[in-house]
Amino acid sequence: MKRVAILGSTGSIGKTTLDIIKQHKKEFVLEALTANNNIAALKKQIAEFKPGKVAVVDEEAGGRLRSEANIKRGIYSGTEGLCRIASDEEVDVVVLAISGSAALGPLLAAINAGKTIALANKEALVMAGEIIMRRLKNSKARIIPVDSEQSAIFQCLEGREHAELRRVYLTASGGPLYNVPLSEFSSLSREEILAHPRWRMGRKITVDSATLMNKGLEVIEARWLFDIDVSAIGVLIHRQAIIHSMVEFLDGIVLAQLGVTDMALPIQYALSYPRRLPNKKYNLNFLKVGQLSFEKADTEKFPCLGFAYQAAKDSGSAPAAMNAANEEAVKAFLDKRISFVFIPKVIEKIMSKHKAARNPDLKAILETDRWAREEARRLIGKCSHF
Ligand SMILES: NC(=O)c1ccc[n+]([C@@H]2O[C@H](COP(=O)([O-])OP(=O)(O)OC[C@H]3O[C@@H](n4cnc5c(N)ncnc54)[C@H](OP(=O)(O)O)[C@@H]3O)[C@@H](O)[C@H]2O)c1
Repeated sequence: MKRVAILGSTGSIGKTTLDIIKQHKKEFVLEALTANNNIAALKKQIAEFKPGKVAVVDEEAGGRLRSEANIKRGIYSGTEGLCRIASDEEVDVVVLAISGSAALGPLLAAINAGKTIALANKEALVMAGEIIMRRLKNSKARIIPVDSEQSAIFQCLEGREHAELRRVYLTASGGPLYNVPLSEFSSLSREEILAHPRWRMGRKITVDSATLMNKGLEVIEARWLFDIDVSAIGVLIHRQAIIHSMVEFLDGIVLAQLGVTDMALPIQYALSYPRRLPNKKYNLNFLKVGQLSFEKADTEKFPCLGFAYQAAKDSGSAPAAMNAANEEAVKAFLDKRISFVFIPKVIEKIMSKHKAARNPDLKAILETDRWAREEARRLIGKCSHF
């Protein structure tokens, strides 16, 4: 039995992970859950799954939960609460399903504690990939990717030597705006952007999918997870979302991982790794799929993808600045303070102002994150009429 903690259990990935645990009671036992402040959802999960421990970041919400819920061993709050659960000695697998840069602290705590980490969050690796991978090397911990593209590459690479790898191809469904002309972007409502045609996800990643920043974050994530130069990472628009990514080896042979479009598959694989567990719900019907198509990504229409490549090439603190500017811009868009077209403008401005530090330590990364957020907020404040 693997003892599992889900950080970010009230979100899209968190809920799907709980479904998988429910389907495989002989394989997994739920040890701990965490949320930011949604205690209504957390209370329902506590009643159903009876975890030993929970953590809520928001101190006030944590206080309310203490008086309302019956937890066997502990209710923690604050970021320290998350780190405590990420490093808990009664936990074997930490599912990191928190959105945004808030995942960085708990990820480092899980690495320090030598955990198996099922990593869904991408922002932490984008911010501090070099530091994370260095700490991982010096620890017993390991990361099993949950993101469908990274899981695909991970599966294609299994049992191969790193030196045999020539190139990886990340596939992208194209997001909700693929067929929308650029001239119409400025009039798009929040609701239209949030209606993703293929995936049901949290709000931040759905906006990132619309700008293609999500693919850009994945380029940087792949760079670190698979130790591959960014020039060897390609992006292909693949509308059917059946091939989740591909790996090309030195001899020109390409392996692809295919499957139905559902995050339950890579999440289950990350939990059960290295084994595969039965899942009767998913059968890929090739005759229904019909054709598989591939196109070049349009970085003029979707400049955020180009920003991510640039940040990856600049390296050092550049990806942290880009990530922070993106988080602030997406938040402002979701709060209806800026229009959709202003998101890339904010990121571009912050990236051009940022002087990337070489080999930044954690303190420098956090300082870059703080600086970029402050600059982005200032810019957003000035441009609230957009
Ligand atoms: N959804 C997908 O299909 C998918 C696929 C691949 C990768 N990912 C990645 O997985 C991560 C989670 O995505 P999601 O779609 O599941 O997001 P989501 O639905 O928005 O859920 C986010 C979770 O994180 C918690 N959270 C938010 N801010 C937090 C903070 N500051 N500190 C601690 N916890 C916080 C939320 O708690 P509350 O509910 O209390 O706010 C919620 O439990 C993202 O990094 C995303 O890029 C997602």
